[in-house]
Amino acid sequence: MSTTPAQLAAAIPKAELHIHIEGSLEPELIFALAQRNGLSLPYPSVEALRAAYAFTDLQSFLDIYYAGASVLLHEADFHDMAWAYFLRAKADNVVHAEIFFDPQTHTARGVPIATVVNGLASACDRARTELGIGSALILCFLRHLSEENAFATLEAALPYRPRFIGVGLDSSEVGHPPSKFSRVFARCRELDLRIVAHAGEEGPPAYIWEALNDLKAERIDHGVRSLEDPALVAELARRRVPLTVCPLSNLKLCVVRDLKDHPMKRLLDAGLCATVNSDDPAYFGGYMNANFVQTVEALNLTREDVIALARNSVEASFADAADKARWIEQLEQTVEAFAQKGL
Ligand code: ADE
Ligand code: ZN
Repeated sequence: MSTTPAQLAAAIPKAELHIHIEGSLEPELIFALAQRNGLSLPYPSVEALRAAYAFTDLQSFLDIYYAGASVLLHEADFHDMAWAYFLRAKADNVVHAEIFFDPQTHTARGVPIATVVNGLASACDRARTELGIGSALILCFLRHLSEENAFATLEAALPYRPRFIGVGLDSSEVGHPPSKFSRVFARCRELDLRIVAHAGEEGPPAYIWEALNDLKAERIDHGVRSLEDPALVAELARRRVPLTVCPLSNLKLCVVRDLKDHPMKRLLDAGLCATVNSDDPAYFGGYMNANFVQTVEALNLTREDVIALARNSVEASFADAADKARWIEQLEQTVEAFAQKGL
């Protein structure tokens, strides 16, 4: 019986490094939480809400994404959202997840940051004990807000410093370059936080340069527009800066017209440490394996491409060396099992 690269992609152990936990909130859970919290929604049904998920660009998505997150009020809401994500991750053979959260989306509505962090952290603990999935939280600053607001958010989060490993930068990209946040990221580096930033999703290669040089980002989230700048590609390859690429997100937000036009193969062929991720899976039509399998099929990725993508995800994670070695061993066992079946 022959097997395919897409089947290997689904089975192989992998890390997810670019998932906004608020973007895992499925319409069914939005309605359940609204009911639990006595809130009314501007949509009559789950189907009507899902039908509104027709995006033309990043901002058209963000407007509906922030509205969806408004049903999150209590610690249990954050826990239930993250737990639902971990169950999906387990089904997709995700062994480790580095999870973004947007505290300002919640503190602006009067939800204390303690509620957000405690709810998410308890789900992370439960995922480790009940599912064997490792995880870490990354606090993201909303770049459409001011650097001053980011500083205040960092200050409010410091009592929970042991519960998050790093900081990121997300929300509306164009018009909000990384350099707008140079000082707050310098402070984060002093606090030994790991640094990532969204750049080159809709914004130009210059924003990726700024994320590297001004923020000292260790990974670039998206980064698909790096291919427009050969010197940037050379630098990313030389320093082996990982890109956390999100193919279905790029399709749904019209960064690419068709998955067949997606730059993933070109990124790999350019020698970059590209990874596959789901970004906001409840909004973009799929979790890790949907992203992996659809990309493999659309671009005719090979067995070697699939192995490279899975290896890259482990290499690019902020997990410790012992965990990484264990996951690489599991990955190699899966590859070997597929080789026995003729792939
Ligand atoms: N917040 C949630 N998803 C995002 C994305 N794809 N880009 C920027 N900010 C986001
Ligand atoms: Zn993102």
